Amino acid sequence: MVEWGMYEEINRLKSKKNALIPILHIIQERYGYIPENVVDILSKELNLSKAEVWGVITFYSDFRLEPPGRHIIKVCRSEACLAMGGQILQEHIKNKLGIGFGQTTNDGMFTLEDIYCFGNCACAPSVMVDGKLYGRAFPERIDAIIESILRKGVKGNGK
Ligand code: FES
Repeated sequence: MVEWGMYEEINRLKSKKNALIPILHIIQERYGYIPENVVDILSKELNLSKAEVWGVITFYSDFRLEPPGRHIIKVCRSEACLAMGGQILQEHIKNKLGIGFGQTTNDGMFTLEDIYCFGNCACAPSVMVDGKLYGRAFPERIDAIIESILRKGVKGNGK
């Protein structure tokens, strides 16, 4: 459910040209995903059809329709990363977490997402964990990152 403060953000931006996408980004940044009542609210506030709002949300893979896990792992699936072992890396991470792209582990700890180039091709393969970009992210390095997160979680500091 979108909170009152969010309406202030919407009102601040809604008169700008092409306001929908920036507003959706702000909402996702705030909530971690796009809550379902957002379609009705933005349709009304931006004078767009619900289909238009829904179309934008579902067209851009950046927007999530469900709450993510506490930690988000994004894996590059573009050419330079694939050429440097990215396919092996993808399978390794999927097997380690037991989930596919666009899914969240049952314990709510990790969400796995794909992306097509971070602009970090020279250091391929590239992965982003909780907003921090890692180059030369070979399986051993990813294992160490995930283990580090899990150790912190065990100590009671979920994030
Ligand atoms: S291809 Fe992976 S960062 Fe550019």
